[in-house]
Amino acid sequence: MLYGFALALTALAMFHVGHQGICRRNTRVTLVLGGLIGHLLIVRLVMTLADAGTIQEIYRYLFVPCALAPMLHGILLGRTVGGFSAVYVSLIGALLVPTNDVMNYLIVSLVAGMTAVISTDRVRRRVQLLRAGICVGFVMVGLALVLGKLDAMSVFGDESMNRIQILATGSGIAFATALATAMIISGLLPMFEGVFNLTTDISWLELSDLNHKLLKQMQLEAPGTFHHSLVVAALSEAAAESIGANAPMCRVCSYFHDVGKLKKPGYFIENQHDDRENPHDTLTPTMSALIIIAHVKDGVDLAVKHKLNPRIIQVIQEHHGDSLVYFFYRKAQERKKEDMEKVERRLENVEDLPKVEEKNFRYQGSRPSTRESGIICLADTIESASRTLRKPTPAKIRALVEELIRAKINDGQLDGCPLTLGELALIKESFSKTLHSMMHSRIDFPKPEDKGNATRRGSSVDGDPQPDGRFSSFVDRSN
Ligand SMILES: [Fe+2]
Ligand SMILES: [Fe+2]
Repeated sequence: MLYGFALALTALAMFHVGHQGICRRNTRVTLVLGGLIGHLLIVRLVMTLADAGTIQEIYRYLFVPCALAPMLHGILLGRTVGGFSAVYVSLIGALLVPTNDVMNYLIVSLVAGMTAVISTDRVRRRVQLLRAGICVGFVMVGLALVLGKLDAMSVFGDESMNRIQILATGSGIAFATALATAMIISGLLPMFEGVFNLTTDISWLELSDLNHKLLKQMQLEAPGTFHHSLVVAALSEAAAESIGANAPMCRVCSYFHDVGKLKKPGYFIENQHDDRENPHDTLTPTMSALIIIAHVKDGVDLAVKHKLNPRIIQVIQEHHGDSLVYFFYRKAQERKKEDMEKVERRLENVEDLPKVEEKNFRYQGSRPSTRESGIICLADTIESASRTLRKPTPAKIRALVEELIRAKINDGQLDGCPLTLGELALIKESFSKTLHSMMHSRIDFPKPEDKGNATRRGSSVDGDPQPDGRFSSFVDRSN
């Protein structure tokens, strides 16, 4: 009793120290404690059935679903929580087994639990769960043999007993238990994700299907935005991978980040054609900025209407932070300058002039609050600006990436985002590499009429990178 109490206290202390992020959220704590208690209740049930003779003594441990809590917690909350579960269901579960078998239970439960956690680390497909179940089955059979649990002679003392039959039955039970555990977890994952507001890599991968209604609509009505989203997805996924952030989530959120542009696709530079009139030509800069800014709110509305994952909605809300739509802000200032000259020549009345206030040209969203959101915010800016690059070289790309990230930091856009300086350095490296490989394949062979100039497909704004913040003039307009 005292041992059990001490163990439970140690478990709580360890959990509090090692997993502070999880401890702050009641739902996660419920998931961890509920999983542990459920697992231990099943251990108790198996032991009761074995004591009552319903389960043969020889197969006692093969009926215990050692992978249950460790696998569930590993997939939903990460491998460290999975490892914590494997250790504590073994230590506390040891109180529920016959005293002469404590060591055997501890070994089987710990090794099988850890195998479940390791084999489901970063699991992205449901079939990998079954593979993990098979691994656990193998481990359990191996341990049962090593510990003498499947040795017919040692148990029954009867040499005529068919050892092969016992081995086959024991292996069958071990594999059936492990596979059933994996299948039950696979089947119940969507429910757990819904109840505890979590999204596993498996679900992100399922959500990355480009056949989603909104993405299909984007492909038809805003092909430029669709292409932009695919490139942002590639950039952010690789960058997230390089720092160990959630790469599948970055990919899916990038696909949907500009979904709000579907309301007025023609007002965004990537959907405009050289041969058609630019709708902004007939609007005031303030009006243009309003339309551009509105795509964030429109995106959130569309995402809510289509019941997209809350993490996607968060990224839509945060992907521009409260940054400035610099292109139209500058245009408004230039216009004001012209108007002031007219006032000096007494052609205009100063009271009739519209006010140019910076706050009217800023996005109304919130600044990125997660590493993934920060990565997408940067990838978005870099993709838009990269379209302005002519004859991209690794040095030009690196300068562009450096400048844009520095501009975002200086504007305070990454202040609420937990990205460290070391991670930002890795992200820069990843963006430069991905962008270089993409732009390299985008360069056309020069045609005779090009007079030797290589041109880019899809480019609509000219300008080489210069480290003076001029990129932003293109960036904010095209986002
Ligand atoms: Fe974008
Ligand atoms: Fe955007």
